[in-house]
Amino acid sequence: MKYFIPTIIILGLSAPSVMASTTTVEQLLENYRRQGAHEFDHRAGEKFWHQSFRDKKSGKMRSCTSCHTQNLRKPGRHVKTRKRIEPLSPAIHPGRLSDVGKIRKWFRRNCKWTLGRECTAQEKGNVLLYLQSQ
Ligand code: HEC
Repeated sequence: MKYFIPTIIILGLSAPSVMASTTTVEQLLENYRRQGAHEFDHRAGEKFWHQSFRDKKSGKMRSCTSCHTQNLRKPGRHVKTRKRIEPLSPAIHPGRLSDVGKIRKWFRRNCKWTLGRECTAQEKGNVLLYLQSQ
């Protein structure tokens, strides 16, 4: 009983943000399907998350984990500014994956930096499913 009530309170508080992230992700996936993406796969998203791409200018390897780390439930650190980045997991950090505009903006910026190009609709859908599952 001692631990039961705090657990219910925590679950109660986190539920709305998880629900918000579900609708947002659904909306984006629908969009990506219209752009020609097929079935989305969180395992392909996980692989993409860890994949390294060589930067043409510096020759250094870059990946999503460069700033967000391998563990989405832990805070990351921006490789250049060294600023802390809150965990991407919507289960840990309320408000994650709940704003279409924010996700679009950061996909554009982060894909360009990491891959040297925009991510495809398929890549974005896969990685969103993976992020949501963490
Ligand atoms: C150079 C550092 C850096 C790299 C590399 C990076 N990100 Fe990010 N990302 C950020 C920063 C900074 C933010 C915005 C700060 C925040 O939301 O806490 C962010 C935010 C995001 C968000 C918004 C999440 C939300 O709903 O709040 C998504 C999604 C995301 N990144 C995905 C990716 C993916 C996918 C990759 C790899 C292709 C990637 N990031 C690589 C720095 C990076």
